[in-house]
Amino acid sequence: MNEVLITGTGLWTPEYGVTNAELVESLTRAVRKWNADHAAEIESGELEERDLPSEKFIVRASGVGHRYVIEKEGLLDPDRLRPHLPTRSEDELSIQAEICVAAAEEALAQAGISGSELDAVVVGASNIQRAYPAIAIEVQDALGAGGFAYDMNVACSSATFALQNAIDAIKTGSARRALVLCPELTSCHNNFELREFHFIFGDACTAVVLESADVAGAAGGAGTGESWSVLGTRLATKFSNNIRNDFGFMNVAEDTPRHPHELLFRQNGRQVFGDVCPMVAEHIATHAAEVGVDLEDLKRFWLHQANLGMNKTIAKTLLDREPSPEESPVILDEYANTSSAGSVIAFHKHRDGLEVGDQAVLCSFGAGYSVGSVLLRRRS
Ligand code: COA
Repeated sequence: MNEVLITGTGLWTPEYGVTNAELVESLTRAVRKWNADHAAEIESGELEERDLPSEKFIVRASGVGHRYVIEKEGLLDPDRLRPHLPTRSEDELSIQAEICVAAAEEALAQAGISGSELDAVVVGASNIQRAYPAIAIEVQDALGAGGFAYDMNVACSSATFALQNAIDAIKTGSARRALVLCPELTSCHNNFELREFHFIFGDACTAVVLESADVAGAAGGAGTGESWSVLGTRLATKFSNNIRNDFGFMNVAEDTPRHPHELLFRQNGRQVFGDVCPMVAEHIATHAAEVGVDLEDLKRFWLHQANLGMNKTIAKTLLDREPSPEESPVILDEYANTSSAGSVIAFHKHRDGLEVGDQAVLCSFGAGYSVGSVLLRRRS
């Protein structure tokens, strides 16, 4: 089996930032209008009055303070509450491919290789903008990469599931250099009409370059020279309806039309919190034991970024003490939940101070339920 290294990471951050205050102001106006427009149905008991959102609740319940989005005016417009994206022609690069290329460029530069040296491209995301041709194949074409490319979706866990696919391909020799991308445009699947969901998500795209150790550094480019050995990967799934999105190709054929809210993200957040924290802690503990890594020797926990309390609970269970902010880095205060991109953003932005030989874990979790972990050791 080939040794697999991560030699570069990249991040695309949208240019528009949205604060909790802006979001709450827009939804407050929309809720007041909705309640006024539906006063008669609310009075008769046919509909329930909608409650007003609160900034204080958002920060206390989730730790989210801000998010970046691909388009801001549409989603803050109380009469629209969803982004406004112009339709692109088939001759133009699709939006998700474009953000993949932007993140890929940074990751390729770190690795010191060009796109033409890649022989696998995997796009993993909660939402992919069309059924086919795959966004990954469009990115492969745009970067001049060879080999093969495909899209896959395991919701928020897409990052680690896609990483395991790329790692397995390099281990067994079906690829030598792979690129894993998580183009998350969550603002297009988020429900900005309801206060329990409107604050949760943000947009971003991450890229990770993986190489077989025998070719890493041989491309002649000026990379950073930093590399991380993959010690092991572990995936697990357990069916649950607690996080759902029923958008799909069969919607047009269904007998009963779907309520528009069913075609967007929805969850029983409290239930998810309770179910997923122990699942993730046990998953990481088992993985570390299998690979022979002591939990106390894990210097960093780059966890999926859905909820600050969840991440504290998971790290505390594993370490048997409160994690320091350096040990369990937080990006969701600035980025919110960027679905599969979150754990990779944490890895991309918070690996300073780790030395050669240091061990750490990257872990994503979410709908399915699903959880995946990648154990890493800094190699150079
Ligand atoms: N503003 C004000 N009040 C709000 C609100 C808002 N935006 N959203 C919900 N509330 C209210 C609720 O209506 C509820 O009121 P009630 O007690 O009168 O019924 C109360 O606040 C508590 O709501 P609840 O949904 O139980 O809050 P919570 O503490 O569980 O926090 C989440 C909600 C979503 C932040 C939290 O459950 C979470 O992050 N869970 C994990 C989700 C996750 O990881 N998902 C993975 C997806 S990738």
